[in-house]
Amino acid sequence: MNTPDKPLTAVLIGAGHRGHRPFGDYALQYPGELKFVAVVEPDDRRKQRFAELHDIPESARFSTAEQLYKQPRLADILVNASSDQAHVDTTLPAFELGYHVLLEKPIAASSVQVLRFFRAALGSRSHVWVMHELRWSPFFQHVKTLLEMKTIGEPITWQHTESPAYWHMAHSYVRGNWRRQEETTPILLAKACHDLDLLIWLLDRPVKQVHSFGSLTEFRQENAPENAPLRCTDGCPVEHECPYDAKRIYLGKNTGWPASVISADSSLAARRAALETGPYGRCVYYCDNDVVDHQVVNMEFSGDVTVAFTLTGHGPENTREFTYDGTKGRLTGNFERNTIAVWHYPDSVPQGFDIEADGKGHGGGDPAMIRAFLHTITSNHLPDYTALAQGVYSHVVGFAAEESRESRTVINLDAYGQKIDAAAWRMVRELAFPAKSRPGGIRNEPVVSGTARE
Ligand SMILES: NC(=O)c1ccc[n+]([C@@H]2O[C@H](COP(=O)([O-])OP(=O)(O)OC[C@H]3O[C@@H](n4cnc5c(N)ncnc54)[C@H](O)[C@@H]3O)[C@@H](O)[C@H]2O)c1
Repeated sequence: MNTPDKPLTAVLIGAGHRGHRPFGDYALQYPGELKFVAVVEPDDRRKQRFAELHDIPESARFSTAEQLYKQPRLADILVNASSDQAHVDTTLPAFELGYHVLLEKPIAASSVQVLRFFRAALGSRSHVWVMHELRWSPFFQHVKTLLEMKTIGEPITWQHTESPAYWHMAHSYVRGNWRRQEETTPILLAKACHDLDLLIWLLDRPVKQVHSFGSLTEFRQENAPENAPLRCTDGCPVEHECPYDAKRIYLGKNTGWPASVISADSSLAARRAALETGPYGRCVYYCDNDVVDHQVVNMEFSGDVTVAFTLTGHGPENTREFTYDGTKGRLTGNFERNTIAVWHYPDSVPQGFDIEADGKGHGGGDPAMIRAFLHTITSNHLPDYTALAQGVYSHVVGFAAEESRESRTVINLDAYGQKIDAAAWRMVRELAFPAKSRPGGIRNEPVVSGTARE
C-alpha cells in the first residue's frame, strides 16, 4: 500500500488506446500516486511502447493474462483495459490474488457474464470499480447535485440522447473494433452503457419495464453510392460529398484520436498505407458490421417515472443531450458544450450554468475517477459495492433492452434478472438501491462547480 512518498502500484491488462491514455497518462502525470509495474498485452509494439514509457522491466512484460497469473501478486491494483470480450476471464483470477480492480466498461458481453463477474467481485475483499467515469465529471456531478436539491421537484419524465458524431459512428461501429456484436457487445453496451448507468445513478431507483426498437439502416451494402469502390483509397466517384471519406477523416492534420488508432506510426505515409490495407480505409457501405446505427429504449422506473433514451449515430457532434422534467421544473443539458439550464416553476426564465471542465478525458471524468479510486484504497475503507451494483444493474437493463429489440417484446426487468441468476440479481438490487445512502455509492461531497450565468 502506498505512503505519501510511495505511489500505489498497478498492472495494466490491455495497452491499447484506453490503457495508454487515461490510465498510462495519469501515472505519468502523477508519479507520486500511481506507478505501473507490469503490463499484459499481446501486441508486441503496444506492449513495448507502454513498457518503455513506464519503465517496466522485461521480466514484468507479459503477452497473456495466464502468464501474469502464474506470478504472485505484483502490484496493489489491476487495471483492465483489454477488449470487451476478454474482461471477465482476464480479471477473475485477480480477485483470488488480492488485487484491487479498476475495470473498463462494459463489464462483459452478456448478462450472464456480468452477474458472474458481480458474484466474484462480492466474494473478494477488493475494491472493484467499473469505469463509469461520466459520474465523476464536473458536469454530471453538477446535474446530480441539482437533482438532489430537488430543483425540479420529483422526476417524472425524462428524455436523454447519446450521439456519437456520424464520423465517430463510422470509425468505431462501422469500420472499427465495435462493429460486430458477436465479437464485442451491442452498441447499447459498448457505447451507451454510460448513459444507462447515468440514468440509474441519477434517478436512483429500479426499472420496472424496458422496451426497445432499433436497426442498422444506413451502413449497408444496398446503400452504397453507384460505382463506389470497396476502399476510399481506390478512387471513389463521390469522395467529395461523402461524409465518411476515410482520407478526409484520417489523413488530415489531426494525428491524435481517431487517426492514432489506425496506425502506431502517425506519419502520413503510414496512415495512408493503413487505409489501403486496414479496416479503416473500407467504404462504410461495404464493411462487415452488424451493430445498429440508431436505437430507442423506453424505460418505466419505479414511481411511474418514464424515460425515453435515444442512441443515434447520425448526429453532427459527439455529445449527450437531455431534458429532464420534474414535478416542479425542467433541467436541460448538453455535455459537449458544458451547458445546463434549470427552470424552476413558476419562473419562466431558466437559470443557466456553464460548467468548468478541463475537457480532457470525458469532461474530466477519467482523471477524477482514477484519483477517487486511488484515494479509496489509500483511505483503507472497506469496499463499498453500491456503485458496482448500480453499474451491474445498468448493464442488465442494456441486455434486457437488446432482448426486447430482438424479440419485439416488453421486458419485465426483475423477471429477466431472476431468470439469469436469481440470487445474484437479488444482491444486485439490494446493493444498488440501499435504503439510506448517497445514491450511487458515491461518498464524495456534492460539488456545484459551475458558474451561474447572469
Ligand atoms: N470508459 C470509456 O469511456 C471507454 C471508452 C472507450 C473504450 N472503452 C473500453 O475500454 C476497453 C479498451 O478499449 P480501447 O479503445 O483501448 O481498445 P484497444 O483495442 O485500443 O485496446 C485494447 C487492447 O487490449 C488488448 N487485448 C485484447 N485482448 C486481450 C487479452 N486477452 N489480454 C490482454 N490484452 C488484450 C488488445 O491487443 C489491445 O491492445 C474496451 O473494453 C472498450 O470498450 C471504454
